[in-house]
Amino acid sequence: MKRLDDFRLKLGNQELVPLMIGGMGVDISTSALALEAARLGGVGHISDAMVPTVTDRRFKTGYVKEKLDKYKFNRDNADKSVVQFDLGQLAEATRMHVSHTMEAKRGDGLIFINCMEKLGMNNPKATLRVRLTAAMDAGIDGITLSAGLHLGSLALVEDHPRFRDVKFGIIVSSPRALNLFLRKSASLRRLPDFIVVEGPLAGGHLGFGLDWANYDLRQIVAEVAHFLRENDIGHIPVIPAGGIFTGTDAVEFMEEGAGAIQVATRFTVTHECGLPDDVKQEYFKAGEDDIEVNTISPTGYPMRMLKNSPAIGSGIRPNCEAYGYLLDSKGHCDYVDAYNREVESHPDAKKIKVLDKTCLCTHMRKFQCWTCGHYTYRLKETTRQRLDGSYELLSAEHVFNDYLYSTEHRILLPAA
Ligand SMILES: Cc1cc2nc3c(=O)[nH]c(=O)nc-3n(C[C@H](O)[C@H](O)[C@H](O)COP(=O)(O)O)c2cc1C
Repeated sequence: MKRLDDFRLKLGNQELVPLMIGGMGVDISTSALALEAARLGGVGHISDAMVPTVTDRRFKTGYVKEKLDKYKFNRDNADKSVVQFDLGQLAEATRMHVSHTMEAKRGDGLIFINCMEKLGMNNPKATLRVRLTAAMDAGIDGITLSAGLHLGSLALVEDHPRFRDVKFGIIVSSPRALNLFLRKSASLRRLPDFIVVEGPLAGGHLGFGLDWANYDLRQIVAEVAHFLRENDIGHIPVIPAGGIFTGTDAVEFMEEGAGAIQVATRFTVTHECGLPDDVKQEYFKAGEDDIEVNTISPTGYPMRMLKNSPAIGSGIRPNCEAYGYLLDSKGHCDYVDAYNREVESHPDAKKIKVLDKTCLCTHMRKFQCWTCGHYTYRLKETTRQRLDGSYELLSAEHVFNDYLYSTEHRILLPAA
C-alpha cells in the first residue's frame, strides 16, 4: 500500500517531498510554518498579503502608522485615490519578510511566497512589480501567483536576473484560466514551473461562483492535465488543492498523475500557524453547518469562512488610509461604498452594520475573518480533546508526517 512519501515532486533538477503547504494570508501561513515544511523536505509558503503590517508586528517597523499619519486627512473622503503606498517602503518590508525567512531555512525543501494579485494596492501594476522584485531580490525560492491572475504578471519581472531561476507557479480553477495565462505569457518563453489546481473545497477566496458545490477537484485536475498534454507541456507538475484531508486522499491524486498536493486546512490548528490560539479553538469546534461560502469579500470572489467570524456584519469605518490593500487602480473598494451607503441611510445611528461587504484588510489583520477550508469541521478528528473541552494544538511536523506516512485514511493523533 503506497504512502505519500513513496512519491517525489520533480521541480527542475530538484526532488522534493510532494507536499506543499499553501499560502494563507495575512500571516496565517507564517515563516515558522513554511520553514517546517522546508525542513521536512517539502514546500512551504509565506504570504505577501499586507506585508508592511506583518513586518510592523514582527520587526517593530512603523510602516502602517507612517502611512496613516500621512493620509489621515482623507479618512472621511469616499475617494481614496490619493492614498498611495510608498514603493520604497513596500520593497523594504517585502525584503525584510522574505530574507528573514530565507536566512532561517534548513533542510532540503523550498520556500515560496504566495502572491495575491487581486491586492491592487491603489496602483496594481507598480505595487505588484515591487512585491515580486523584492521577493526575488531577497532570495525567495519560488512565487505562486494567486487570486486574480493579472495575466501580465510574469512580464513585470522578465528583466530580473533571477527570472529563469525562481520557480513560478500559478493557481487556477479551470483549464480556461490556465489557457489565458499561457497565451499571455507565451512571448516570454517562460512556462510556469508548476500549476496548482484549486478546487471548490479550499479555504480563502474561491475561483468559483456560489455554485461551487457543482464542481469537483478530481475532474478539474483531469481536464487541466488533458489540456497540458494536448499542448505538449504535460511535463509541468499539476498540484491539486482543496479538501485533501488525509495521506490517502493525497496518494489517490498522486496515483492519478499529480506532481504533488497542496494543503492548508489541517495546518491551521498547528502551533506554527499564525492564527491566535483562541481562534484555532474556533476552527476545532466548528461543525459542518458553522461554515459558509459568502460574498462579503470586496475582491468580488466568494470566500469560505466560519459563520461566527467577527468580520461578518461588522460596520467599522474603512481603514484605507492605514491599509488600503484592496483599492483598485482608481482608489475604489466595494466596502467603502457599502459602508457609506449604510451611514447615509442611518444618519442617527451610533453603530451601523454592513452585511453585504466587509473591511477585509482590517479584519484579516486582526484575525477576525476566519476563512477556512470546507473540511475544517473534521479538524477535531485530528487531535485530542482536553477535559475542559478545548482541543490540543498540533505541531506542523506531526501533521506533515501524518500526510506522508498515513494509510487507509487513518489520522494519527498526537501522543497522549
Ligand atoms: C485560512 C486559510 C487562508 C488561505 N489564504 C490563502 C491566500 O491568502 N492565498 C491563496 O492563494 N490561498 C489561500 N488559501 C488556500 C490554500 O492555500 C490552499 O490552496 C487550500 O486551502 C488547500 O485546501 P485545504 O485547505 O482543504 O487543504 C487559504 C486557505 C486557508 C485554510
